[in-house]
Amino acid sequence: MKTQWYKNAVVYQIYPFSFMDSNNDGWGDIEGIISKLDYIKDLGVTAIWFSPLYKSPDYDYGYDISDYRDIDEKFGTMADFDRLLDECHKRDLKVIMDMVINHTSIEHPWFKKALESPDSPYRDYYIIRKGRRKGNKLLPPSNWDSSFTGSAWERIGETDEFYLHLFCVEQADLNWENPAVRKKIIDILNFWMDKGVDGFRFDVFNMFSKVYPIQDDHQRNTFQKGAQYYVDGPRMHEFLQELNEKALSLHDSYTVGESFRPSEKEAHEYVKEENHELDTIFNFAHLDSDNIGGKKFFWKPFDLLQFKKGLIKPQTDYYKDAWNTLVLENHDNPRCVNRFSIDTEHYRYEAATMLATITYMGFGIPFIYMGQEIGFVNTDFSSIDEMKDPVSHFVYDLMRSYGMPEKLAFNFIKYGARDHSRVPMPWDDSVNGSFNRGHETWQCVNQAYQDINVKKDLNSNRSIYRYYQKLLAIKKTNKAAIYGKTREFDHGNKKIIAYSREYENTTLFVIGNFSKKSVKYVLPEWIRHGEIILNNYDELKKDGVNIVLKPYQAMVLEINKVD
Ligand code: GLC
Repeated sequence: MKTQWYKNAVVYQIYPFSFMDSNNDGWGDIEGIISKLDYIKDLGVTAIWFSPLYKSPDYDYGYDISDYRDIDEKFGTMADFDRLLDECHKRDLKVIMDMVINHTSIEHPWFKKALESPDSPYRDYYIIRKGRRKGNKLLPPSNWDSSFTGSAWERIGETDEFYLHLFCVEQADLNWENPAVRKKIIDILNFWMDKGVDGFRFDVFNMFSKVYPIQDDHQRNTFQKGAQYYVDGPRMHEFLQELNEKALSLHDSYTVGESFRPSEKEAHEYVKEENHELDTIFNFAHLDSDNIGGKKFFWKPFDLLQFKKGLIKPQTDYYKDAWNTLVLENHDNPRCVNRFSIDTEHYRYEAATMLATITYMGFGIPFIYMGQEIGFVNTDFSSIDEMKDPVSHFVYDLMRSYGMPEKLAFNFIKYGARDHSRVPMPWDDSVNGSFNRGHETWQCVNQAYQDINVKKDLNSNRSIYRYYQKLLAIKKTNKAAIYGKTREFDHGNKKIIAYSREYENTTLFVIGNFSKKSVKYVLPEWIRHGEIILNNYDELKKDGVNIVLKPYQAMVLEINKVD
């Protein structure tokens, strides 16, 4: 059944709230997406991942689902979705749905029924435990932290019971130990695949299995109390294998799991072909190279060696028995051109194209986040009120509770905020960037749209979109770019990333300069006569055996062995 179509796929992620608002109500919608499918297709993309389109009260903007079998009204109807699916397929674009099944919304009927009566069978759909009495205080069942700050337990009304939520209070964790829950999830996956959907992105999948009985986390210096009991839990592999056997393997599906700080060993096990679990997962280690310990808000100077290690290691680890993904942005990250110590003001084009080159020429499936293909930038938010993401508010409030002044607290959250990637897509320089026709947008518009927008990029002779087109054309057709083995060069170099991809008679050499100054580099001898098949500058300066890479210059050289 499985054709492994994903191996040379290129995926484009759409955050539906902010892509295109066709009915001018302030929210992006399905009709809007359909109107832009040719734009996506022309980029060279072969699949689209839609962030959640399901019914949701939007406490976490779609990641709190209240009906897994219906489309939220603000995006359209199920009939609209069916048309979207059809329009994608007509263009040979696969459709990947987001699947948020670690938790449901507290407005999901299962949760509502669970709370109706202590005897409800739905009670066991969630993780509900008695609190602990200490004097006349009622403490949560354990000291676990939510990923979004605060306790992971919420008291149920005036009772002495609590439910677990590893994210917002409005996202109640499902009890995967209950076979009835797993059956419901399997049915949901089959429901969408029977409709013709081609795959799923599983939200925070490596939290499905928890360690029981629930206990306090006594580890010191943990980044999040409880994580050792709810990340990569003991039944993870079994649960994934069951999903695979009863749903995923019955269709020509593709899956990518969003892992939450997995151990290296478990991460590899999830994707090993012989294990029949997931086809791929996201590894974000390189995106933590400008923050402390994976906490996005804790900025630190960019560490290129950490970036290189994070990007390359899964490529070499997974090469023999698994497949990989390559990511620079998503709806949880700021824009890549504003990170990694980049001089965005002077070198936005060079940096955007360099980052894409050195990332996507690696081993794995490129994932491109909407707007990334025109080098869209972070938003200059003026106050916390302009930010819609609950996490920005939680962290802001936390900083304020420590006594941090308002301005400082706001500046603290600004760098890593998820809101940067969630503002409306800039299509041109008319009102609201033509995301809509002027109605107030659900999330403020990034005023940079007047300068940076799709129309302008496409008309420019330094178009980032057109560079992506060239890059993706190589990525999809060049066997070494798809199947080649990755080997890193000069790991210790603090300005340059360099690696080769070797497959049969072809070897590619990928090199990029992370510095805003020209940097000399001695090419390995075997590639000196290689052909430049991609370059984000018009020329390559040579100085004897040295090449001189200009600020943020990147290129790909190819050499073919003659037998
Ligand atoms: C994932 C999603 C994120 C969401 C969280 C909880 O990390 O990418 O947007 O807030 O899971 O569902």
